[in-house]
Amino acid sequence: MSQPAISKAPDRIAGMFDAIAKHYDLLNHVLSAGIDRRWRWRAIEALSLSGVERVLDLCTGTADLALAARTATPGAARVVGVDFADAMLRVGRGKLLHARLDDAVSLVRGDATRIPVADRAVDAVTIAFGIRNVERPAAACEEIHRVLRPGGRLAILEFAVPTAPVLRAAYLAYFRYVLPRVGKLVSRHDTAYEYLPASVDTFASPGEFVELLQASRFVDIRAVPLTFGIVYLYTARRG
Ligand SMILES: C[S@@+](CC[C@H](N)C(=O)[O-])C[C@H]1O[C@@H](n2cnc3c(N)ncnc32)[C@H](O)[C@@H]1O
Repeated sequence: MSQPAISKAPDRIAGMFDAIAKHYDLLNHVLSAGIDRRWRWRAIEALSLSGVERVLDLCTGTADLALAARTATPGAARVVGVDFADAMLRVGRGKLLHARLDDAVSLVRGDATRIPVADRAVDAVTIAFGIRNVERPAAACEEIHRVLRPGGRLAILEFAVPTAPVLRAAYLAYFRYVLPRVGKLVSRHDTAYEYLPASVDTFASPGEFVELLQASRFVDIRAVPLTFGIVYLYTARRG
């Protein structure tokens, strides 16, 4: 059944993430039972970094994936994280300072559909749980293609709804009833954790997202289900 569209106007999305920024990391780890770290690690592993790369982490939020790209062995030489939610970036900057990684990882305020990076300037682009929030994902994919050097790699993590009937029912029950209640209790935000399941329900299926990557001229596209298909890792290259 098709779901009603939800507003992804940039001001609304940035405002919502700003409002939950302080609780974001805790809720991420609790609501995913800690598996989110492993998903991010899989995304970095897919880049096959060798220690010299410049990595762009789009929709970086509190910079967990940017940090993982730098601290992997071997990791990226430099990482730039871009996000339009100021408060999320502030939390991220605190983590970089704490880890003494603020020289190798920088966080910049910007929109994924107008990336503040020169053409062909980065070796790899990552996005974790960000693309479904972008109002115009096709425009973001075009921009990613522009900033990647030829041959550069892309790794995107995003939620999906599993297809196996029992798992699907359990997942939807958790996403629609448990997660919004726990999220509201901890973050004290009325709607952010209702938006999350709605945004997953209405986002492209893995097949549709692969088609979008193809239309954006990426090559070697793969969609790998993680944790019974509740998350997909999409990988691709700029030809
Ligand atoms: C669910 S959080 C994910 C944060 C982080 N990547 C992680 O793995 O925890 C989504 C992030 O995407 C950002 N975002 C959504 N649309 C964006 C856009 N068009 N441009 C830049 N950032 C965007 C939000 O501000 C938010 O910080």
